[in-house]
Amino acid sequence: MKAAVVNHSGDIPRYQDFPDPVVEDGLVRVTVEAVAVENVDRAIVAGTHYTAGPFQAALPAIPCFDGIGRLPDGTLVGFGGLTPPYGALAQYVVVPAGHTAPIPEGIEAPIAAVLSSAISAMSMATAAGLEVGETVLVQGATGVAGRLAVQIARLLGAGRIVATGRNDDALRELTALGADAVINTVASDTDLVQAFRDTAGDGYDVVIDYLWGHPTELLTRALIPESFAMPKPTRLVQIGESAGPAVQLSADALRTSGLEIYGAARNMATGMAAAYQQVVTWVRSGQLTIDVTTMPLSQIEAAWTRTDLRGTRLVISPD
Ligand SMILES: NC(=O)c1ccc[n+]([C@@H]2O[C@H](COP(=O)([O-])OP(=O)(O)OC[C@H]3O[C@@H](n4cnc5c(N)ncnc54)[C@H](OP(=O)(O)O)[C@@H]3O)[C@@H](O)[C@H]2O)c1
Repeated sequence: MKAAVVNHSGDIPRYQDFPDPVVEDGLVRVTVEAVAVENVDRAIVAGTHYTAGPFQAALPAIPCFDGIGRLPDGTLVGFGGLTPPYGALAQYVVVPAGHTAPIPEGIEAPIAAVLSSAISAMSMATAAGLEVGETVLVQGATGVAGRLAVQIARLLGAGRIVATGRNDDALRELTALGADAVINTVASDTDLVQAFRDTAGDGYDVVIDYLWGHPTELLTRALIPESFAMPKPTRLVQIGESAGPAVQLSADALRTSGLEIYGAARNMATGMAAAYQQVVTWVRSGQLTIDVTTMPLSQIEAAWTRTDLRGTRLVISPD
């Protein structure tokens, strides 16, 4: 079969032949229709993700661990459960029968491939318990996941939405998607701390954080009260690390702000099914827009190195 193959550590995937996966007992063959290429896939290929070990050990190997495809009976399904060297960027995959789930009617394969980014944004409710009327800060809102989070905050009934980014044109688009205020994080530390404070209104109830790193250090600094007043606690959901894998959290930022920090996975196991249904309903009704750019598998080298896809998810479809 044809596949996107990484031959050596540090290479980008190349379009080439790869042995067909074998269908053994308990496994099912899926004809691949759409695979989203996310930051986590790039980090695994680059060897920088904490789960990259099995992929790197299996080279030459096919990247991406889930996708959308058709069962032999024509049913459109999401699939996972792949084992390196086999990944999703191929004409076919063979997966355990239990690792497929039907895609609901009315959801096209490329959109289905990106649903997981929308579902993880639901962690503002599942992990942080967002309530109607509360103020949400989307930290790192100009990427694919952040743009979905802005829309989802609005759909969940947030009273006020503040969005951060580092590009003024992209920030203007967020206003159209539902942000009430935006902050450009390209500023001096002092100015950015002040901007977080000036834009907080009566306080950020929930932060959904796709950046981490220095911008989030400054955000935690901005949460320190400037008097002995007891501030409203902020519930921060850690979900991404576009600006860095670590933060330095000062004692007073935690002690005096009442800041609570949750991982996005908190309560996801129990909340996943409802979150999925809700996202599907919004997508079907057109209330939630997911932007995708599809490219054929044969163009994987050009696709993988594109740098012009801000805010839209790259989805690969076998030719
Ligand atoms: N846990 C989950 O389930 C889950 C789901 C989806 C995403 N994520 C994570 O969330 C993060 C964003 O994902 P995405 O899909 O939205 O990625 P994306 O579409 O590539 O967007 C990346 C975002 O990060 C910003 N950014 C990149 N480097 C930055 C830096 N050094 N300083 C400040 N901002 C920076 C980008 O700003 P520009 O637009 O200016 O480039 C953009 O807003 C990633 O870490 C991803 O792995 C996690």
